[in-house]
Amino acid sequence: KVLILDFGSQYTQLIARRVRELNIFCEIFPYNHIPEDVADFKAVILSGSPFSVHQEDAPHPDLSQIKGKIPLLGVCYGAQYMAQNFGGKVEPSKVREYGRANLSYIKENETLFEDIHEGSQVWMSHGDTITSLPNHFQKIASTHDVLNAAYKIDGETTYAIQFHPEVYHSSDGMKLLKNFLVSIAKVEQDWTPDSFVESTVAELKEKLGNDKVVLGLSGGVDSTVAAVLLDKAIGDNLYCIFVNNGLLRKHEFENVLDQYKHMGLNVKGVDAGDRFLDKLKGKSDPEEKRKAIGNTFIDVFDDEAHRIENVTWLGQGTIYPDVIESVSVKGPSATIKSHHNVGGLPDFMKLKIVEPLRMLFKDEVRRVGRSMGIDDELLGRHPFPGPGLAIRILGDITAEKVRILQEVDFIFIEGLKKWGLYNDVWQAGAILLPVNSVGVMGDERTYEKVVALRAVSSTDGMTADWVDLPYKFLQETSNKIINQVKGVNRVVYDISSKPPATIEWE
Ligand code: XMP
Repeated sequence: KVLILDFGSQYTQLIARRVRELNIFCEIFPYNHIPEDVADFKAVILSGSPFSVHQEDAPHPDLSQIKGKIPLLGVCYGAQYMAQNFGGKVEPSKVREYGRANLSYIKENETLFEDIHEGSQVWMSHGDTITSLPNHFQKIASTHDVLNAAYKIDGETTYAIQFHPEVYHSSDGMKLLKNFLVSIAKVEQDWTPDSFVESTVAELKEKLGNDKVVLGLSGGVDSTVAAVLLDKAIGDNLYCIFVNNGLLRKHEFENVLDQYKHMGLNVKGVDAGDRFLDKLKGKSDPEEKRKAIGNTFIDVFDDEAHRIENVTWLGQGTIYPDVIESVSVKGPSATIKSHHNVGGLPDFMKLKIVEPLRMLFKDEVRRVGRSMGIDDELLGRHPFPGPGLAIRILGDITAEKVRILQEVDFIFIEGLKKWGLYNDVWQAGAILLPVNSVGVMGDERTYEKVVALRAVSSTDGMTADWVDLPYKFLQETSNKIINQVKGVNRVVYDISSKPPATIEWE
């Protein structure tokens, strides 16, 4: 395995993903928590950083357990830190060095640059530059503006580069990482979905023995893949609970429950729609609605967990980005802290926690799911918010509004599938607006609800853009909705990007 020491760069996760794409397992640790078993790592990569090496509080880790002992690659700040620390000079750059650059010199026969040629585009993002290298350091590449764009240390397998190989715009970045990890550090490329499943199932068997685990299924990708892994390890000692909060898509509860049963999971469906609706009555503030739903879910889940005798573990579908967040250089975020501080935790939250996906990125979760034979349709589903349709019905919630929105959403989503557009969209849904508008049907004047359709493209939900759906499709969908869903007489399409808008309307 490979260690990535994080100095707080926005690109650290991207380095990890690139390494995983090479079928090599890696873990990220903050620079101030070098793991005790560091000697077991086959290679180490130092990330970039928002700091300048000249800042007083800049990271200054002790690398004596690593440098000269394990193959080491410094990226950006990592390169500057080593150069400065061992007697070189790092100074503020005269020219701003952000964005595209091209390698203008590469040392001959240098393994790090094997199969990479002069002219190759690299991506720079730094304010300081290495103006002189320590004695036993050797320049191995330059760009027009950056003399020491890459160096190595004589007699060691220590390398450093000023540019970012992990970003897409460094056209030979993957080659360089492969040269370092495979040719220089001799790391095996044996991290595959199949090998992950095999080793994880073995670990889970060992860890859980005959213990019982309870896990909440949501219909989403993460909880499903986590459940299938646990099922492979402990079979019916895994108790899955799938709660219908009454705010799911049309037919979703029955269909997904059926799918789960088909997959052989020991699952219990709990239809608690009325309980949720009751708690939501009269609430129109978005955060109050979210709270009511969250609390009711906890109550329902706790009741169900109590019915399982001697259960000692809670299974969760936590994935790597959440884990990194909670151990990051910047420290755990406020929200992660707060839920551990709540007094009087429900009983199930006192269980020991097992998280089979805590080392995986989202795309790896899908690949693992696919390798275990989970249906592509299930793995490719759009994200759906936990509070469900409640945050797509603006204002207060009633059973009738839920019914209307379920019908509208169903026509929209089925249409996307029929037109082959579903997989081009990252997330789609319909919003029921709290306004009525005038319409005319036959000879009658109507005064009915307006719905908005929303379809966005995104990679992680942090930023998003609206999707340019074909007019013909929008036309057909709008007609169907107005003709078939009683209570709706107008359809609009949301053309706002995030930021400044958000994906959901509340
Ligand atoms: P926004 O509206 O913030 O949404 O742009 C970003 C992503 O988060 C989802 N979302 C939620 N998911 N509980 C959830 O589980 C929530 O309260 C919630 N609010 C928004 C949203 O669907 C989108 O994928």
